[in-house]
Amino acid sequence: MIDLIVLGVETSCDETSVSVVKNGKEVLSNVVLSQIDIHKAYGGVVPEIASREHVKGITYVFDQAIQKSGIQYEDIDLIAVTEGPGLIGSLLIGVNAAKTISLNYNIPIIGVHHITGHIYANNIEHEMQFPLLALVVSGGHTELILMKEHYHFQKLGETQDDAVGEAYDKVARVLGLPYPGGPQVDKLSAIGHDIYHFPRPMIDSGDFNFSFSGLKSHVINLHHNLEQRKETYKAEDFCRSFQEAVTDVLVAKTKNALKAYDVKQVIVAGGVAANRGLRAKMLSEITSVPVYFPHIQYCTDNAAMIAVSGTFKYQKQKHADDYYLNGSSRLDLNRGE
Ligand code: KG4
Ligand code: ZN
Repeated sequence: MIDLIVLGVETSCDETSVSVVKNGKEVLSNVVLSQIDIHKAYGGVVPEIASREHVKGITYVFDQAIQKSGIQYEDIDLIAVTEGPGLIGSLLIGVNAAKTISLNYNIPIIGVHHITGHIYANNIEHEMQFPLLALVVSGGHTELILMKEHYHFQKLGETQDDAVGEAYDKVARVLGLPYPGGPQVDKLSAIGHDIYHFPRPMIDSGDFNFSFSGLKSHVINLHHNLEQRKETYKAEDFCRSFQEAVTDVLVAKTKNALKAYDVKQVIVAGGVAANRGLRAKMLSEITSVPVYFPHIQYCTDNAAMIAVSGTFKYQKQKHADDYYLNGSSRLDLNRGE
């Protein structure tokens, strides 16, 4: 087989990242410049600041990724860039930088849907085998997806309101934890207890959809009431109770999907795939098929996953995109097929 060396570019939110990946598996470099410390002061990502930071960092990140990979631009066969969904100002920086390199070195370019990147992050350590079930849990998405082959995404269900990561971040904010709250809630959960027994929304709904906004409001309202009554509480118990409710629903829905569809493996994708509680519960409760998670560094936004996804997209559609390729804040997953 001839090697396919792909340069990935990811700028959909607050991480500027460029990576070089060989044959959709071997990561030669993966440079991630995070803006978390800048957005922390505002309690969340400020889109205008994010775009400016991407502009400031992108050239440096390209240079570092090439240097660390040990290859030259001339050796690259394909550029894969996140075209959406995400913050439009941020996406445009990555897309235009990628197009510039593509034109300059005459390298074909392909647009990648951000969520397919999260899914394909799993291929770095474990070969994806089909059919498979993907549980996508990120800051903007919560979905169960059936894949019967490479680059074919059948959405079985999705959140009707908040994404899991979004609910994590909002609960963390109310508890006064720094942005991004998901990892903080995860950390505190480990020393807390499920004393509040929050509702498990839609756990028996009979479909593969999710809802987290009611649960989030429930947690926030209880916190508000305790504060008003000046009652003492432990943040770690809030975190643990919330995390148990969320992970019970995610695991139950995945198990239901496994009853309905015969698959070879379950993969978990997106920032919340880093969650220790979710990892432990998925692994202990699902034993009929292997359950895989990306390595922690490939769970949250990074360009390696975009390069991997671009590799398989290119192999499937057998042609690159043209220079009309553009950023798109809203993008349907199957537009990526
Ligand atoms: O996939 P991602 O990096 O960005 C999006 O595409 O949205 O996911 C970011 C989300 C944030 O909401 C963050 O709080 C959450 O993933 N997250 C976690 C953990 N690590 C990141 N949530 C729960 N537990 C974690 N350990
Ligand atoms: Zn993401």
